[in-house]
Amino acid sequence: MQRKPVKLISPPPPIETKRLLLRALEPEDIEDYFALYSNVKVTAGHGMTPWKDPEQALHLMDWYAQAAIDNRGCRWAITERGPNRLIGSLGYHAIEEEHYRGEIGYDLLPEYWGRGIGSEAVVAVVRFGFEEIGFHRIEAIVDPDNQASAGLLRKVGFTEEGYLRERYFDNGRFVDDWMFSILRPEFEIQHPKE
Ligand SMILES: CC(C)(COP(=O)(O)OP(=O)(O)OC[C@H]1O[C@@H](n2cnc3c(N)ncnc32)[C@H](O)[C@@H]1OP(=O)(O)O)[C@@H](O)C(=O)NCCC(=O)NCCS
Repeated sequence: MQRKPVKLISPPPPIETKRLLLRALEPEDIEDYFALYSNVKVTAGHGMTPWKDPEQALHLMDWYAQAAIDNRGCRWAITERGPNRLIGSLGYHAIEEEHYRGEIGYDLLPEYWGRGIGSEAVVAVVRFGFEEIGFHRIEAIVDPDNQASAGLLRKVGFTEEGYLRERYFDNGRFVDDWMFSILRPEFEIQHPKE
């Protein structure tokens, strides 16, 4: 079967939702991006060490800019419509072009949690992933303790596939990866175009 190849757009184009504007990361975001990943509540969800140096924000932004060109990954800033301030981020990495799949990642400053913002942004970026990038399957890998992330994925319509045992080494211990995925036909049924 011939399929259109998976193709990222560099820089990722803006996506509007009811309350949000998802847009490419910009140099002006450095301070807010650093604030996001130096917050231990946010980094705990990702299983990463909190940032200590704003240079790390610059480094990751450069990585995503190049990754979008190389078809390896992309990231949007989450902003509210109106204020242009970065309040979170989301995007794709671990893209396997030949298998038409990618992994989604997302985060939000804690003061914005619990208002449906995360799921609103993820629905929009999953739609973009299927319709514009050309994925067939989108994966999400979650820490088994991260109930907020699992709840978000269930709400969006991802299927829980199980635990990949001790697949991740974090702070001197092996932890399971909790695998979720959604396929394009499933998403189209659950989130028909308006
Ligand atoms: C994961 C995260 C983005 C969720 O964002 P959010 O905007 O609070 O999520 P939503 O409000 O859209 O919640 C969606 C659903 O998730 C569930 N949920 C959210 N927070 C929850 C919590 N603390 N415990 C259990 N379930 C929760 C609920 O079912 C909710 O739906 P409902 O409000 O209709 O009941 C946010 O907690 C975060 O940034 N965490 C740190 C980073 C992180 O863990 N990233 C994911 C790594 S895999």
